[in-house]
Amino acid sequence: MKQNIAIAIDGPAAAGKSTVAKIIAEKLTYVYIDTGAMYRALTFKAIQEGIPLEEEEALMDLLEKTVIDLQQSTAGQQVLLDGEEVTLDIRTEQVTNQVSIVAKHGKVRHEMVKRQRELAAKRGVVMDGRDIGSHVIPDAEVKIFLIASVQERAERRHKENKEKGFSSDLEKLKEEIRRRDQIDSEREVSPLVKADDAVEIDTTSLSIKEVAEKILRVVHDKLDRGE
Ligand code: CDP
Ligand code: CDP
Repeated sequence: MKQNIAIAIDGPAAAGKSTVAKIIAEKLTYVYIDTGAMYRALTFKAIQEGIPLEEEEALMDLLEKTVIDLQQSTAGQQVLLDGEEVTLDIRTEQVTNQVSIVAKHGKVRHEMVKRQRELAAKRGVVMDGRDIGSHVIPDAEVKIFLIASVQERAERRHKENKEKGFSSDLEKLKEEIRRRDQIDSEREVSPLVKADDAVEIDTTSLSIKEVAEKILRVVHDKLDRGE
């Protein structure tokens, strides 16, 4: 009998989390929740409103009156900020380069984690981020930690940009990825860390399909054991 479980997928930038999380959610008809989009949406709004990203209290005031809604559609996940679609606006280089500063603040994380736990309370979810298995859903039935070399991750982003018609500089992408990984791993509150019971998958030389198959095997083993 099929059970609804929580699947946590964590790892550094461009390790392939959101791509495979979407595939897994689709295969299992689960809900996909992109927690990075929540930090990105707040960062986008703070930049728009000219709020200094180092000021935790100002960010908290902003977050308290901000509604971030993640909706599933046939075109993929849509991100709504106070009812307005910002799906693409939150992926700009400006937001990408500053989101980790916002995500460092303990109070901001506390509120985001509260919202994320509410979303995960109803099982049948695939949630991706940095601290999902270690902090947001410590009792997730399946925990995956995806990694890949910096070179490979930068090349993936480079290719992705090219496909979208943007030019990018590989060396700059490597630098940005290293910098963001460092801030995410070194912050005091729920840093990017592999949970003790997570299955680590190095995706450097694996295709998206191969990664998805590996994860589905872990999920099916778990479901078959009925744990
Ligand atoms: O897709 P990409 O790896 O570029 O990033 P993302 O998943 O959209 O997350 C953007 C940023 O949000 C990360 O670099 C972290 O600073 C922060 N984040 C976090 O702190 N905790 C999470 N659970 C998810 C994202
Ligand atoms: O969510 P995260 O930042 O971890 O990564 P992503 O946005 O899912 O993946 C970054 C890019 O790498 C996308 O263009 C994926 O298509 C690509 N990718 C890949 O080439 N091979 C994989 N095994 C996983 C992702």
